[in-house]
Amino acid sequence: MAKVLGIDVGGSGIKGALVDTRKGTLLTERKRYPTEEKDKPAKVLEIIHTFVKDLHWDGMIGIGFPAVVKHGIAFTAANINKKWVGINIAEQVYQKTGLNTYCVNDADAAGLAEMEFGAGRSYKNDIVIILTLGTGIGSAIFVRGELFPNTELGHLKIRGKYAEKRASDAVRQKKDLRWKEWAVLLQEYLNRVEFLFSPDVIIIGGGASKNHERFFPYLDVKARLLPAELLNLAGIIGAARYAELTKKKKEW
Ligand code: BGC
Repeated sequence: MAKVLGIDVGGSGIKGALVDTRKGTLLTERKRYPTEEKDKPAKVLEIIHTFVKDLHWDGMIGIGFPAVVKHGIAFTAANINKKWVGINIAEQVYQKTGLNTYCVNDADAAGLAEMEFGAGRSYKNDIVIILTLGTGIGSAIFVRGELFPNTELGHLKIRGKYAEKRASDAVRQKKDLRWKEWAVLLQEYLNRVEFLFSPDVIIIGGGASKNHERFFPYLDVKARLLPAELLNLAGIIGAARYAELTKKKKEW
């Protein structure tokens, strides 16, 4: 069995568990620590270290992080502390824990998990877009099973505003929108995504996916529209799987 500690850093919480990366299942209970946008990198690193200590973990770590991540380094910081920009997350976690760490964009991690173990597993020959609707909007594009990373489709501008500031699940909650009202905003966003990429399949993940029955009936898209199957575990499982897949490449 291949075991990896998967950690999903989000805009409002850090979730983690030990993952069986061959089966895509959790080996320990999912734990969550709340965080806020203003939390400094040191606090986030401390929480990651807490996971390691609590689980007595001495293996590999995979981290999903809500930013453009290249070679372990954060290049953006939309819903997290701006101090992250330029930091090598994987290296910092290694310094703190002494454990080999690999870092990937959080939506790319969730997408990877859905493609391997969830809703996308039968669509490896297609163009698949996974959109995570949560604090922000994350995206992952798979072209016949290959990830095109860091696509940031939550930052497409719609009516002069970032899509994630108009149509994320956080916006729905903050504005207390009814599902039908929120679906109108989402429809406009999905139209844009379809216009640009003509995907065969769109998978909706993130916090909103567990309620898909409440808003899917109001949406009309050309692609096959599917709810994510791994729900709030996709980010953890995908981060762990990413570490497993990347370890041989010696990349931070
Ligand atoms: C970030 C993305 C992230 C998404 C979901 C956006 O604000 O720019 O990198 O994937 O939120 O967390």
